This record gives sequence, structure tokens and C-alpha cells, in this order.
Amino acid sequence: MSNYHIKHLEEYYQVYRKSVNNPESFWEEIAEEHFLWRKKWNQVLKWDFDTPEITWFEGAKLNITENCIDRHLATRGDKTAIIFEPNNPDESAEHITYRQLYERVNKFANVLRDQGIKKGDRVCIYLPMIPELAISVLACARIGAIHSVVFAGFSANALATRINDSSCKIVITSDGSFRGAKTIDLKSIVDEALTDCPSVDSVLVAKRIQTDVNMKDGRDYWLQPLLDAASEEGKAEVMDAEDPLFILYTSGSTGKPKGMVHTTGGYMVYTAYTFKNVFQYREEDVYWCTADIGWITGHSYIVYGPLCNGATTVMFEGVPSYPDFGRFWEVVAKHNVNQFYTAPTAIRALAKEGVELVEKHDLSSLKVLGTVGEPINEEAWHWYDDNVGKRKAPIVDTWWQTETGGIMITPIAFATPTKPTYATLPFIGIQPALLDENGTEIQGNQVDGRLCIKFPWPSIARTIWGNHQRYKDTYFSAYKNMYFTGDGALRDEVGYYRITGRVDDVIIVSGHNLGTAPIEDTINEHPAVAESAIVGFPHDIKGNALYGYVTLKETGESRNHDNLRTEINQLITEQIGPIAKLDKIQFTDGLPKTRSGKIMRRILRKIASNDMSNLGDTSTLLNPEVVEAIMDNAL
Ligand code: WTA
Repeated sequence: MSNYHIKHLEEYYQVYRKSVNNPESFWEEIAEEHFLWRKKWNQVLKWDFDTPEITWFEGAKLNITENCIDRHLATRGDKTAIIFEPNNPDESAEHITYRQLYERVNKFANVLRDQGIKKGDRVCIYLPMIPELAISVLACARIGAIHSVVFAGFSANALATRINDSSCKIVITSDGSFRGAKTIDLKSIVDEALTDCPSVDSVLVAKRIQTDVNMKDGRDYWLQPLLDAASEEGKAEVMDAEDPLFILYTSGSTGKPKGMVHTTGGYMVYTAYTFKNVFQYREEDVYWCTADIGWITGHSYIVYGPLCNGATTVMFEGVPSYPDFGRFWEVVAKHNVNQFYTAPTAIRALAKEGVELVEKHDLSSLKVLGTVGEPINEEAWHWYDDNVGKRKAPIVDTWWQTETGGIMITPIAFATPTKPTYATLPFIGIQPALLDENGTEIQGNQVDGRLCIKFPWPSIARTIWGNHQRYKDTYFSAYKNMYFTGDGALRDEVGYYRITGRVDDVIIVSGHNLGTAPIEDTINEHPAVAESAIVGFPHDIKGNALYGYVTLKETGESRNHDNLRTEINQLITEQIGPIAKLDKIQFTDGLPKTRSGKIMRRILRKIASNDMSNLGDTSTLLNPEVVEAIMDNAL
């Protein structure tokens, strides 16, 4: 039996028991047998959830790109590492072999070195889904620079906040991006952001949409000529297992975004191991994850996990609706995709368009389907199973987080019997717990509670960049000796987990995490606004949509409400990005508050969800009359 490749349910249980009974020797064996280290570790694991300090493979030396690229050259040099499928189906796809990837990553790494980027420097990457995105990520890792990829749908303001939070020295971007029928001028967004980013010395610009852009002398450089002049050889920097590999920002329920810091050794081992098993990747398979590399799913399961296994991974530049809603299936057929990993929101959007668009394409290559990012509803699950997988491809509903680095609760394809809406069983090495509101662990099955993890796993984020206290407060302070996920979950009669959703003020809209506080802060900047509260409400396609309750400084009809709604959404688009726009805005004379002045969101959530029959305990409410008025005018 191989611990590295699990094929049956009994094997899963056996390996799981081993991983939990003796985590250190278990992970030591996986790390030793399946990865390339320049030097072995002194100690497999050190941890303390109180401080909190966690180290894996301390003292070990490696470079993750030697694991993702160099070690495959002898046996897989001519194998395709990345298939780039462009936005426009008439433009040909690009197949990048492992050897070509080696050369392109080295060239890029040498360009970064020439720009003065050194080990430990932060590099901001703000690029569309073009090969340069994956290559620049790997180039940073090659020289030990810490990449901070910012999703190219974020606004100038959001970009500037992220650049400044980790004082990035350089920004890698493109002239623009294609998204369906639209083009977006990324460079001008970068220019706007950089008016207020003192740490940035230079900007590298890839050409994608071939428009004229403003190039600032002495700061901005076209990327291609620099790459052309660079050598395709280069040594990988020797990194410590606990050196930071990247920072990735995620929304918190309050305050500015949290820069989650992932380190090198443990992240590599865990993402590679989960990729291999969850998707049951085999040597000749073509794997496609539709996420953007701007999110954790893209980091772990487009770039690092697949490449570490020598896989062929598809990078798709476009959107599911262009040129029509059959695009995903066209791409699956075109590249003979074997494993397909996407988000429930995409499945719901495609299901609405009817099955003809699916049936038009030959999907017989598909072996495994995956979902990630939010709970999948039963209807979407069955639509995916019936029409895409034809009931032959198991659906792996993978629960995890930016903070966890890799997949945590999931079926293992073909081994774990699936159950609609259930993420099923903890992955190898993962020890979940459900806690009640008093912090007591709930034992047994058929129970629900707050989802925590009791024991460290190799790819847990080690800190929040520049704010270790916030890391402790957010994840390790709610319950003693536990990592708190912020999610609620239930455990069924056989021990399967179903994630029920966030229990904090994070709302997941189309699979994107949005904290309510930053959106409220933005709305409150509008000169006419006195106060606001945002809640989520169920939405057919997005899963959740945002409902805003806004009180104005001057009440009455003195301002046109439709104009105000437009202005508020405009402000949100500028400050955060279009993904955070509100679907509904209700103007109210006040917000329901407790005597201590806290907004009672529970009530607002019920009203937004049109579930007003039972508002629950309202005895602590300071202003019950406000609730009546809000209910009367609910949208
Ligand atoms: C939610 C994405 C239900 C959850 C990898 C989590 C899910 C948050 C699932 C993290 C799933 C993710 N079922 N809910 N399979 N996967 N979530 O950081 O609320 O973008 O806490 O990481 O998404 O989102 P993030």
C-alpha cells in the first residue's frame, strides 16, 4: 500500500488513522519520499496554537520550483505543463512544455534579479490569466521573492492598499486584459494605484491587448524585451522550509484585508499530496481548474499542486459565458480534460442556460468533477452530476480556505462515496471538531456546530503579514487550542461533514469572500450617508447577494433614491471592485440596535431573506419601531 496514492475507502481509513495517530512520522515519510530537498529538516513539526507558532520541516532547505519544474525535466521535459486557452476561441491555445516552462521561468527570474529583486522582497502581481501570471509566480519563488498576487478585478484603491500593506517593490502587470467581449485597461488602474505607493520602484508591463498605455520613464518597462535579453538558465535560491513563499489577501469581517502568509515546505507537501489524491490525477491526464490564480484555489490547484506532480494544467483566460454559455464544455472537449474543478456559482449560472449547450460537446474525457468556494445546493449538484459527469464522474466537493492553503474536507475521487451537498470526510491528517457556543466540543454524529481544526496541518498559514496579533485574535482566540474556521458545519450519521456557511460577518458572493465592514465603511464615506449595514440574502446564481440598509443624514425625499443607489455602487466599485456591489439598497430612518449600540444583523438578515415570520429574540432591541418600518418597506 502506498501512503502517497490512496485508491480505496479502506485505504483512506488506514492512512487517515496513521496520519492522526502519528502525524510527524506520517508527514516525514510523505515529504522524504516524494519531494526534492537540498537538506533534510531538523524537526518535522513544532506547534503552539496559543502563541500561535507553527513550523513544519524546520531547518530543511529547498526550492519549490525545483520540485515543480527541474525535477521533471529528465522524464517529462517534453510533456505539456501548462495549456493556455485564450479568451477568444479563435486564437490558438498555447502548450508550454516543462522544458519551456523551465526556460521561461528562468528568464523571468533573471529579469527580476536585474531589477534588484532579492530573496524576501515582496512582488505584487496584477495580471490577467495569461501564461505570464503563472510564470511570474514561479519566477518569484525561484529567487525567493515573496509574491503577492492581486486579482485583476480589484480596483486601484484595493490594489494600492495591498501593495502598501506589504510594501511591494515592484508591480507586474499588463497593458490590459480580455474578459469576454470586454477589455479592461489594467495599466491605467495600476497607474492610479501607484500615485500613493511609495515602496514601488518599478513596473513590468506585459503586452496583451496591444493598446497604447502611459509608460512612466524610469519606472515602467515593457516586459518582453527584457525577457528576450535574459538568460534561460539560472540557479534556484536555496530557501528554508519556513521562508515565506507568498502573501495572499483575504477579506476579514472587519478592517483591512488580511495578508495571509504561506511558507514553503509544508505548503508544497500538502498541496501536492491533496492534488494527487483528491482528483486522482494520473500521468497522462489533463486537469483544468477554472479559478483565477488571483485566488488561493489558483495558487494551490492551478500552479503549485499540479506542477509539483508533473501534471498538465489548463489556464483559461476567459469567462464561462463567452462567446456563449457552452464555452467551458467546448474547452473540455477541445483539450480532453479529465479532471474539471469549478465553483458552484458557475454551475448554477450554466445550469440556467439549458442542457443543449452541454450536450453539444463531447465530455467523455471527464473522470472527476470538483467544486469549491461555497456550499453547493442540491439542485446544482444533481445538474452537474447528471449533465456534465453523466453520473459516472464523482463530484469532489472540496471545503477549504485561503488560510488553510489546501483542501481540508473532501471526498477522495472513486474512494469516498459522495453525498450531495456534503464535503464528506476530513482529508488525511486533518482533525476537525464541532464546537458549541460555549466552546465545548460536540461529540458524536448527527450534530452541528462551529467548525474548528484541532491539530496543525502542513499548509496552514503561519501569520498575517505585519500583524501576528490579528492572526491570533482571528483564528486562535475564539476557542482554546483550536484553529477556528469561521464556518458552521453539521456532521451526519456516518461522520460526513456538510458546511452550512459563515458564522461571522463574511458573506460569500459568487464564491468571493466579502467582509461587511469594509463595504459599510465605503458606503459611509458618501456625504449623504449617516450609517449603513450590509447583510447577505439568498440568490439563485451568486449563492448570496448583498442587501444594504442605509440611513441618510437628511431623511425625507430630498435626494433621488435611484441616483443615490447608483452613486453608492459607484463608490463601492471604485474603492473595492465591482464584485462588492449591492443588489438591493433600502433607505431607512434607522437601524435596529441593541442597548449597547450594536446593530442587530440577525434581524436585518431575516428581513433581507424575506423570512419575517419569526425574528427571534428581540427583547434587547432599543428601537423596535425601526424594525416595523424596515419590514414595511423591505425590497
Ligand atoms: C467557503 C476558497 C462550502 C467557506 C478555497 C470558507 C465552502 C470560505 C467550500 C473560504 C465548500 C469554501 N463548501 N463552503 N466546498 N469551499 N467554502 O478563502 O465559507 O476564498 O470559509 O477559499 O469559502 O473561501 P476562500
